[in-house]
Amino acid sequence: MDPSSSAIKIENVWKVFGNTSNEALDAIQNHKISKTEALEKYNSVIGVSDVSFDVKQGEIFCVMGLSGSGKSTLVRHINRLLEPTSGKILINDQDVMTLGREDLQELRNKKIGMVFQNFALMPHRSVVDNIAMPLEIRGISKNDRLDAANKILDIVELQGWGNKFAHELSGGMQQRVGLARALAADPEFLLMDEPFSALDPLIRRQLQSEFIKLSKQMKKQLFLLLMI
Ligand SMILES: Nc1ncnc2c1ncn2[C@@H]1O[C@H](COP(=O)(O)OP(=O)(O)OP(=O)(O)O)[C@@H](O)[C@H]1O
Ligand SMILES: [Mg+2]
Repeated sequence: MDPSSSAIKIENVWKVFGNTSNEALDAIQNHKISKTEALEKYNSVIGVSDVSFDVKQGEIFCVMGLSGSGKSTLVRHINRLLEPTSGKILINDQDVMTLGREDLQELRNKKIGMVFQNFALMPHRSVVDNIAMPLEIRGISKNDRLDAANKILDIVELQGWGNKFAHELSGGMQQRVGLARALAADPEFLLMDEPFSALDPLIRRQLQSEFIKLSKQMKKQLFLLLMI
């Protein structure tokens, strides 16, 4: 890894929600209209407003912001779950907007893991089946993927819970299943949207240290979004 090269580069990203987002963005940039005017005149909501930063290889990068400031919106651009109204997103120097279908699938399934703020689990699947999902998508055999999922259960302190349905777990436990699923994918980058928010202070601290340790050991790039 070249420590000076960019892993994730965000260049002047704007995301405006609404049917006339381009017109709204033009008015925001050229006529300096306010958020309220954008909403009233264009029925548009500003999700991300001119964000630029550069995450170097090996760096753990945190973005903090108030509720509603655009963290979840921003992070969804990195694996192109959302497309910017304007601006550029580069992963290892490649513009994600230029990726074809297959490369985009590869990016989402292998290269980038994501821990969603709302966990996004399959409620009627067991805990291990949820954790093993990224491996299932890759066509890894049932035995191998369940073996891998069971090992990760220990890391997130959910030993013995593997056969329960996801919906039978508490919020904090579900959050840990989401973390475990992201680890199972063994991605190069891990995007984590408020990944420890539902945990009690004790297990939060424990998992935070565990993740920092893992990111060093497994040479993972962590990108954290935290609320303040
Ligand atoms: N799909 C959408 N359609 C319209 N507006 C949206 C959409 N998603 C987000 N927004 C708006 O974008 C802004 C930023 O929301 P976002 O969820 O990114 O904030 P956040 O920083 O993640 O907040 P929190 O800390 O509460 O999770 C909000 O005003 C929100 O209403
Ligand atoms: Mg959010």
